[in-house]
Amino acid sequence: MAAAVPDSEWAADANEAIHLSLVRTKEDRASLTAREVYEGFNPTFTYPIFGEDEKLYGYKDLAVDLKFASGSLAQYLKVSYSQKLASSSVVDDIEGTLAGFIPPGYDTNEADFLKRVEEDAATFRPYGRLIHSYSRSAHKMSRKHAHMTQGYDPNDEDIVDFEVYHTTWDTPGFREYHRRMQLFILLYIEGGSYISEEEDQWDFVVLYEKRRRRNTPDVFTYHFVGYSSLYRFYCFPEKTRMRLSQFVILPPYQQEGHGSALYCAIYQFVLQDASIAELTVEDPAEAFEDLRDRNDLKMLLNNERYLREALGDDANGSSCASPAHHPSPPNANGNGHNGHGGGGGGG
Ligand code: ACO
Repeated sequence: MAAAVPDSEWAADANEAIHLSLVRTKEDRASLTAREVYEGFNPTFTYPIFGEDEKLYGYKDLAVDLKFASGSLAQYLKVSYSQKLASSSVVDDIEGTLAGFIPPGYDTNEADFLKRVEEDAATFRPYGRLIHSYSRSAHKMSRKHAHMTQGYDPNDEDIVDFEVYHTTWDTPGFREYHRRMQLFILLYIEGGSYISEEEDQWDFVVLYEKRRRRNTPDVFTYHFVGYSSLYRFYCFPEKTRMRLSQFVILPPYQQEGHGSALYCAIYQFVLQDASIAELTVEDPAEAFEDLRDRNDLKMLLNNERYLREALGDDANGSSCASPAHHPSPPNANGNGHNGHGGGGGGG
C-alpha cells in the first residue's frame, strides 16, 4: 500500500468506494420485479486486499466498479476519480492490487463487458451435478425490499427456481469459474483466504437462481447466488469427515432463506453419502451459527426417531426434511484448523 497521506481528503474508505454488481442482460432484467436489486452493493471486508486500515489513498471522488456477469461471473473493473495526487509514492495502485486477486482477462471497457454479458447469458450453464432445487415466489423473496415499493405489483407473484450444484476440481471448466468467484470469500468472510488448487480434497456446492425469460418463457438463464467449499478429511477407519470451510450468500440474496436452503442441501448431500461419517464447520461466524442452529433444530424436529426418543410420540416439525439416520450434527471447528480455506492442512 502507498504510504499514508496526511491529508484525509485524499483517503477513501475502500469498503465504500468499491461497488459490486451482478449484471444481467436487458432481456433478463425485464423479468425482475422492481424490488430485486443486484447492483451497487459493497464489500464487508477489504483488508485482505488493501491492508488493515481498509483505506485507498491518493484520489478524490474515488469509485471502483467491479462488475460480474450474473451467471458466468466474467468481470469488469473500472477505477474512476475526479483528481489524483501527482506523487506516485502516496497513490495506491488500485487496479494493479485488485488484479492480483482476480484472474486475468477481465474487461476494462464497459461496452465489451456488456457484450460478454449478452453472450454468456445465452450459453452459461452451472458446472457439476444438480443435487437440490427449490422455488420461491418473487414476492416472498423480496420482502426485505418491501419498503421501497408502494402498492401491488402483479410481477411479484412470479415463481423463481433455485438450483444447487455439486462440483470438484475435476468438473471441466470449474477451476476457472472458481477463480472468478473466490473473491467473494475475501470480501464477505472475516478471516477468509483463498484455497489451494493443488489440494484435491475440496468439494464445492454452488447455488444459482434459474430465471425464466419473461418475453421468451421457454428460455432460462442462470445467476450466481452463493457457494460453499467443503474439505474432506480422513476419518478412522475408512470414512470421510466433511468440513464446511467457506460459505457465502451474496448480499442481494441475503435474509431470504437462501443460506438455509444451501445449508440444508449440503446436509442432505452428506446424509446420502454413506462414506461420510461427519459434517463439521470451520470457525463459524455468528450469523452462520444462528443459521445452522435454526436449521439443525428444524431438522431434529422433523426426525421421527428423535421425536420418539427425546420428545415422545406427539411432537412434530418441518424443514431440512431428514431421513431417520443422520451423521453427527455439525460442530464448530471440527479439527482446530482456522482460516476459512487457506489449505486443508491438519485434520
Ligand atoms: N424474508 C425475510 N427474512 C428472512 C426470509 C425472508 N423470506 N427468509 C429467511 N429470513 C431470515 C431468517 O429468519 C434469518 O433471520 P435471523 O438473522 O434473524 O436469524 C435471516 O434471514 C438469515 O437466514 P437466511 O436467509 O437463511 O440466511 P442468508 O441467506 O442471509 O445467509 C449468511 C446467511 C450465510 C451468514 C450470509 O449472511 C452471508 O453469506 N454472510 C457473509 C459471509 C459469512 O458470514 N459467511 C459465513 C462464514 S462462516 C463459514 O464460512 C463456515
